[in-house]
Amino acid sequence: MNTRLIAARALSRVLQDGQSLTAALENALQPVESGKDRAFIQALCYGVCRYYHRLDFILGELMDKPIKDLEVKALTLAGLYQLNYMRVKPHAVVSETVLAARKKPWAKALINALLRRYLREQNSLEQKADTVQSAAVSHPDWLVRQIEQDWPQQAQKILLENNRQPPMALRVNLARISRDQYLQQLSVQGMVAAAVSFCPSAIILEKPVAVDLLPGFAEGLVSVQDIAAQLAAWLLAVEPGHRVLDVCAAPGGKTAHILEYQPQLKELVAVDIDESRMQRVSENLGRLGLPATLMVGDAANPQDWWDGHLFDRILLDAPCSAMGVIRRHPDIKLLRRAEDIKPLQALQLNILHAVWPLLAPGGIMLYATCSILKQENEQQIDAFLVEHPDAVELPADAAWGFARSHGRQIMAGESAMDGFYYARLAKSIVQAVDDADCYDVSTENGRIILTPVRIQQANASSRRNAISGLMPVLPLTVGLYRHRPESVSLVF
Ligand SMILES: C[S@@+](CC[C@H](N)C(=O)[O-])C[C@H]1O[C@@H](n2cnc3c(N)ncnc32)[C@H](O)[C@@H]1O
Repeated sequence: MNTRLIAARALSRVLQDGQSLTAALENALQPVESGKDRAFIQALCYGVCRYYHRLDFILGELMDKPIKDLEVKALTLAGLYQLNYMRVKPHAVVSETVLAARKKPWAKALINALLRRYLREQNSLEQKADTVQSAAVSHPDWLVRQIEQDWPQQAQKILLENNRQPPMALRVNLARISRDQYLQQLSVQGMVAAAVSFCPSAIILEKPVAVDLLPGFAEGLVSVQDIAAQLAAWLLAVEPGHRVLDVCAAPGGKTAHILEYQPQLKELVAVDIDESRMQRVSENLGRLGLPATLMVGDAANPQDWWDGHLFDRILLDAPCSAMGVIRRHPDIKLLRRAEDIKPLQALQLNILHAVWPLLAPGGIMLYATCSILKQENEQQIDAFLVEHPDAVELPADAAWGFARSHGRQIMAGESAMDGFYYARLAKSIVQAVDDADCYDVSTENGRIILTPVRIQQANASSRRNAISGLMPVLPLTVGLYRHRPESVSLVF
């Protein structure tokens, strides 16, 4: 079948049925054998989604009435995309696009006329698109407003980065091979790559390649994963013997990384609500030869799947708007609606509240999203901390992102990363503090000393500070800093 028609059909699945581009392409590419054809179809589909709001504006300028047949519309948008963004000769674009519509004679004449008129009026049409914000930055209006509201200083840069093509990042399986050794293997294959200074497992490739060309991919030496996503395992800092819960785990990128990071866990339990996505966790762990307990379940209802044993670490990689990964999934700009954000917020907070009781005292929960929206990130942690006096943030002293009121934000494009948010919450090891007691915290020869102190008429906030006083010393016990004391004992 004609490659342009295949691309238009995949795009119409996105436009018409609200299917993700990843799913639509997986289906559409099945019968396509040639690597060159597959690459062309993918480039067309990603390009049209990336520039959809601009291309659609231009199409609107060329027509009185919108094209109702979404396959023909997608074909025309793909034609406009090739004329402006791809190195295909204009006459070839017009004739091949018309040819792709051969089964719909009415559309052939229309596409021919539209593309030719675009070529005649290209400069003025592009200039006009630059004057209308949504077309100029190729984002939906609601999202431009949202980004400007959250990040007024950085908004233009964020919008620009969202339309860039992301680099391909790899995670080296450090349990099996050192990063230097793997870089050597890439170099032997003629692949140019660089180590990422602040993330010991990460490598950036100069040019993306098909995964099966990566040395040792099938044997599990390496996985494809963005650098920002790789930070989760380092922040969680799991130790031998830990019991770890990974909720919202599918497709299992971070699950696998935690297991590679610490092969001597007591158990890792990975839970996701989506059975078919859970199957992908199983496949990914199978390739890497990693063990985990996999469960299909609703993170907001642990009573349905939890065995009652507490966890030392919890990773909550929350379902979110994915506004930090638009450059990897540009179809998000077409599929996500402003009204989706509030229900997601409610779900995130529900899951936060629901899994917190599963964390052992002294344990750490890492909250993560691939979003840059404050409602899904720092505002969630603000709200959570108000309700949980036994929770305190452990700020990360990091060479990436920037500190927020709670947690750290990474913007897409920073050090080649996706947009991500992380907040690390520790659970107090003090089980109960009565109305008037709190503890002075000091360290002595590597021992943590908690001295009971009577506070007369302590108010809620000073009591909270007293509990929080424990938290700065907690990192000493969880290996986040290099100078971990040999032994830790608590003296009351
Ligand atoms: C951001 S993705 C997780 C990515 C994954 N942690 C990784 O690194 O590969 C969010 C996941 O949350 C899952 N999810 C959504 N609602 C859920 C719920 N109520 N309970 C459990 N999982 C849920 C989705 O199926 C999706 O797989």
